[in-house]
Amino acid sequence: MLGLGHVGGALARRLVEDADAVTRAANRPIRLEAVAVARPQGRSAPAPLMAADQLLALPGLDAVVELVGGLEPAHTYIKGALSAGLEVITANKQVIAAHGPALARLGRLRFEASVASAIPIVETLADTLAPDRIRSIVGILNGTTNSILGAIAAGASYAEALADAQRRGLAEADPSADVDAHDPAAKLAILAMLAFRRRIDPSHIERVGIRSLGPVQLAAARQRGFVIKLIAAATTHDGATIEADVRPRLVPDDAAMARVDGAMNAIALDAQYAGSLVLQGPGAGPDAAASAVLADLVRAAKDAPASAGTLLASLADQPAATVAPLGLKNPYPAAS
Ligand code: HSE
Repeated sequence: MLGLGHVGGALARRLVEDADAVTRAANRPIRLEAVAVARPQGRSAPAPLMAADQLLALPGLDAVVELVGGLEPAHTYIKGALSAGLEVITANKQVIAAHGPALARLGRLRFEASVASAIPIVETLADTLAPDRIRSIVGILNGTTNSILGAIAAGASYAEALADAQRRGLAEADPSADVDAHDPAAKLAILAMLAFRRRIDPSHIERVGIRSLGPVQLAAARQRGFVIKLIAAATTHDGATIEADVRPRLVPDDAAMARVDGAMNAIALDAQYAGSLVLQGPGAGPDAAASAVLADLVRAAKDAPASAGTLLASLADQPAATVAPLGLKNPYPAAS
């Protein structure tokens, strides 16, 4: 395991304390062989602590779990591990959104935890819904900003609300990734690539974060019967053109999306044959993210196909799709 932050700590605990259930699910034990952290002095873990390059050179590993986060050095670690023939499991939305297709060509890459933590959306899109045609994705994909907006509406200051999200292990190491919407834009890029089978450059997705929102805006919306949510949305008609953006949107307060609070996320899909689907659940937090990483570890132990990785690999040679912002268009009735 590379990284021992909130998610790494939760995963290490599950692997040790829940070993019987993990073994039962995987049909074999999953053993944590080593943990890499930048500064091992004074840290403790249920496996030897070492530097990342030492870990990646260990003989006999089957898989590497990358939980360092951020683009570099995580991208280099993942590339190195895949090139060395190791299976890689990651929660890293930034790396998958920006480099997923190229990386997935190098080897088996799994990334269920990269989007909406505990909600099983990645393999659902790549596997269960693969024969369908997804026309739109609308969701709340960031637990930190969703918590902050709710806390400000309930009277907290922005600083208090952010500190609370950080204390609960929801926020990114640099929380501007949350509040400026880089994080949900990366997640939307991943979902849209899987749903629409087009390569998407996450920097082409227009983002508006939540910095301009305060108690005045939230109260004014409330008076008119709306709540403000940071909504990530993407639609396509024929796959050729994609409209997508992440921006605060007014959601009627009696809509299901309006009641997705705190660290919860929700994703509404419009599929041609399956119809309207809504998946909702904990989208951030150590245990929620570790749950999705563990799902991938179990799939790896069972040698199950890495459907999402295979799908991304098939997009590697495509030019990036043209992505226009949705702007004021209503992306999908389920969000309103
Ligand atoms: N910072 C992210 C969020 C973590 O708040 O949603 C889960 O990806």
